[in-house]
Amino acid sequence: MANKRQVYIETYGCQMNLADTEVVLSILADAGYGQTTSLRSADVVFVNTCAVRENAEQRIYGRLGDFRRYKKENPGMVVGVLGCMAERLRKDLMQSESHVDLVVGPDEYRRIPELIEAAINGERGIAVRLSRVENYDDILPLRTEGISAWISVMRGCDKFCTFCVVPFTRGRERSRSMESVVREVEHLGARGFKEVSLLGQNVNSYHDGQNDFADLMAAVARVDRSMRIRFMTPHPQDMSEKLVRTIGENENICNYIHLPVQSGSDRILDLMNRTYTRGEYLALVKKIRTMIPDISLSTDIISGFPTETAEDHHQTLDVIREVEFDGAFTFKYSPRENTKAWHMGDDVAEELKSERLNDIIDVQREISLRKNGAMVNSVCEVLVEGESTKSANDYCGRTDNNKMVVFPKGECEIGQYLDIRIDRVNSATLFGTSLGLSGRQAGHSRLAANA
Ligand code: SAH
Ligand code: SF4
Ligand code: F3S
Repeated sequence: MANKRQVYIETYGCQMNLADTEVVLSILADAGYGQTTSLRSADVVFVNTCAVRENAEQRIYGRLGDFRRYKKENPGMVVGVLGCMAERLRKDLMQSESHVDLVVGPDEYRRIPELIEAAINGERGIAVRLSRVENYDDILPLRTEGISAWISVMRGCDKFCTFCVVPFTRGRERSRSMESVVREVEHLGARGFKEVSLLGQNVNSYHDGQNDFADLMAAVARVDRSMRIRFMTPHPQDMSEKLVRTIGENENICNYIHLPVQSGSDRILDLMNRTYTRGEYLALVKKIRTMIPDISLSTDIISGFPTETAEDHHQTLDVIREVEFDGAFTFKYSPRENTKAWHMGDDVAEELKSERLNDIIDVQREISLRKNGAMVNSVCEVLVEGESTKSANDYCGRTDNNKMVVFPKGECEIGQYLDIRIDRVNSATLFGTSLGLSGRQAGHSRLAANA
């Protein structure tokens, strides 16, 4: 056989997209393609895109401009746009980017080999049909060896928050069968993976007809007690007591929940269609903390949603202070065409959005610093994930409650669980010293005695 055709792929957006890229690579490997990290020598160049905010799309337009230059040098190169922006912009993308040969939405990845063949024969193609059933259940994602793996367990979102494109780019919710997810986790365990993250845009509304998300988590946690289980992103509405209990009962399910609140104002939460009030969110946090006293929580917050007043903003700051999140991902509201919020106008001035965003970041930073500070001199179990990005002498890894820890390499190896004594901290990172291998025990419950 002639040399394999080589694919180069860049991935933007959320972890679901990273997981999808592994599905695409698997489909392409089956069709006889190899993977390359060199753009210049690639036969096929793909970008797997995100459409969640305007700036995500702008970045991708910039990147497509670069690809245009590479294609001039190598006219036979096939250029494709995959993912959420492909789904959202479709024909517009084809029209504005004449060097793009294919545009493929998240539910049409099985058609990629066929579309590449067509492109080689000079035919540009669009495949953006959304499916009610496609979940790539039978495709084993092509993963590089490592410590940590993601598994998409459900796709799509039916929540329709008024600001969000995801329900339009990813379509309706559908779940994989519990058996297929468990099989995949078994396979990963056998390959030496130490951590799996179960993914879905609305992961806790998972239901395969028989099993809900708590059942799935319990089944996955049983596969290998030395494997850490994480999940994202849950929606507060579907955060059942059964699920909280399952998290608390299983020592290898990480002691951490990312629970997006978006705003602290009831008026804005209603306009966002988040389906909970500030009071309900706070009650949920209280219940979680009563059941699992030392759980860590993080959140997502949007500043400058249409009609947001100074009062609404202060209510958001109050919620942050009241919950004392361990961390927050914060975004300036970005209007997305065809969403409900798009029709509400974008009436908070850009400078005001930035100002409010900075307020939120300042308040959260102080809380994060205080919470991290409380960990100084404590000993945490850390899974060694790799070299620190800042220093070749250090490794980094995360604690069970998702704090990043940096420590001198010493004798240890990637993939080991270590006990690390925390020596100093800042608002984002803990710095510590290894005390050696941790005595990782299975079967220990964190649930409060009366929960
Ligand atoms: N399904 C998840 C994540 C969705 S996207 C959830 O429900 O939380 C991740 C985050 O991006 C969201 O939580 C929200 O904070 C932010 N986001 C989504 N649409 C946005 C928009 N139009 N402008 C600004 N931020 C947005
Ligand atoms: Fe978007 Fe809301 Fe669905 Fe999250 S729950 S993906 S924010 S619509
Ligand atoms: Fe972006 Fe699509 Fe994920 S819009 S955040 S890549 S689901």
